[in-house]
Amino acid sequence: ANDRETSEQRLIEVCELLQSSIGYYDWVGFYFANEAERTLHLKAFAGEPTEHTVIPFGKGICGQVAESNANFVVPDVKAQNNYIACNLYVKAEIVVPLFKDGVNIGQIDIDSHIADPFSIEDERFLEWVNEKVALIL
Ligand code: SME
Repeated sequence: ANDRETSEQRLIEVCELLQSSIGYYDWVGFYFANEAERTLHLKAFAGEPTEHTVIPFGKGICGQVAESNANFVVPDVKAQNNYIACNLYVKAEIVVPLFKDGVNIGQIDIDSHIADPFSIEDERFLEWVNEKVALIL
């Protein structure tokens, strides 16, 4: 139980660091999969609280990444028909899967209030963050 508290606390610190240091990262969270239920569960975040703490596989950008195992960059959320709105200010989103021992166990999800802010640099950076996070889980 203590180990679990520690990893959750570290995840929150990662979210807070990213959200406070990168201007266009307005909301940063980690969702983790429950494979039996086929749902994603919000484990840590920084930014405004969201109602969407449990997301079924296949629903929204997050749910699609749970099934595709691939990065999903959304320059304009209004152009997506399978999208779950958390906050009316959100214009763009990036979701990058988190792999442990080659298995997609969750994801980092970032919302931005800026239109089309995410580049390949963000993808590479967030892949690196997730590799490091996998080591503390
Ligand atoms: N927009 C996400 C839902 C999670 S909120 O961004 C925190 C989606 O469409 O999956």
